[in-house]
Amino acid sequence: MKKNPAEIKVFVTREIPEVGIQLLKNEGFHVSVWPHDRPMSPEELIEEAKKANAVLTLLTDRIDVHFLNQCSHLNIISQFAVGYDNINIPEATRLGIPVGYAPGAMSDATADIAFGLMIAVSRKMFHMHKSIARGEWTYFRPKANLGIELKNKTLGIFGLGRIGERMASRCNGAYDMKIIYHNRRPNKEAEKLLNARLVSFEDLLRESDVLSVHCTLSEDTRGIFNIDRFSKMRPTSIFINTARGAIHNEKDLLSALEKEMIWGAGLDVTNPEPMHSDNPLLTMPNVAILPHIGSATVEARNEMSRLAALNISEFYKNDRVPNLVNPEVLSQ
Ligand code: DGY
Repeated sequence: MKKNPAEIKVFVTREIPEVGIQLLKNEGFHVSVWPHDRPMSPEELIEEAKKANAVLTLLTDRIDVHFLNQCSHLNIISQFAVGYDNINIPEATRLGIPVGYAPGAMSDATADIAFGLMIAVSRKMFHMHKSIARGEWTYFRPKANLGIELKNKTLGIFGLGRIGERMASRCNGAYDMKIIYHNRRPNKEAEKLLNARLVSFEDLLRESDVLSVHCTLSEDTRGIFNIDRFSKMRPTSIFINTARGAIHNEKDLLSALEKEMIWGAGLDVTNPEPMHSDNPLLTMPNVAILPHIGSATVEARNEMSRLAALNISEFYKNDRVPNLVNPEVLSQ
């Protein structure tokens, strides 16, 4: 949709790194940003979006059927994230609204968090840190606090895309880990580069020493890691999720750990978010939890901001959206 930026109002639903805002302002767009340090309520979101032509959204915004029908005048929605499970894509597509997103920007940052959680869990680091703070460091104890080593172990990736590949290459390089993966479609590139082997979901559960989740959240993956799946994993295995909290069932994860079906878990994502401070998972020795900080580096967040803004500016300037979720709505 070629249009003069001076006629376009872009609403940004939270303060994001300046890079993207500047990009839009330099092009001549009118940009307004929600000024408060909290997610917008659905009503606030609709009220502000009604005054705009384009919105730049976050994963905490509920872009559901109600929002989309109230705001069907929007020319484009662009999401400051690689995930867009907060947006009802079929409805946006039905209404002819292109949805942009920001893939790639956070692949290394998120893989670092998955890798860090894996090590933290394997050596019970978060638990040890908390126990020192409680005054429990007494003396050297040869049989206490033992972790497990990662060298030559098998890493199973559930959803081998950009982030999964980066995690696999870290594990491969650091610990000579063997890589197996489960995807809907084979990732031939990764098979070549990482010597990765495509396996069935059952084999992934059975063979992984570390199972790291990197898929998108969809109706197929919601709650897929439940007690039945955990029961098929090795009692010495570590479960890592840096994708979306709703992909594992949190109660089932807790009982799998209590029943020693698996050895430990590292989570950067929970369900719900934020996790409540009295959640029993937080007190378990073989668990490490972070508050959804996979993409929280200066580099990643700047690039996410730039990519999300670029979708909007390219749409109005050149009739194309560089990173488009629903290509059906645009002939670019
Ligand atoms: C994403 O981009 O989807 C991350 O989960 C948040 O940055």
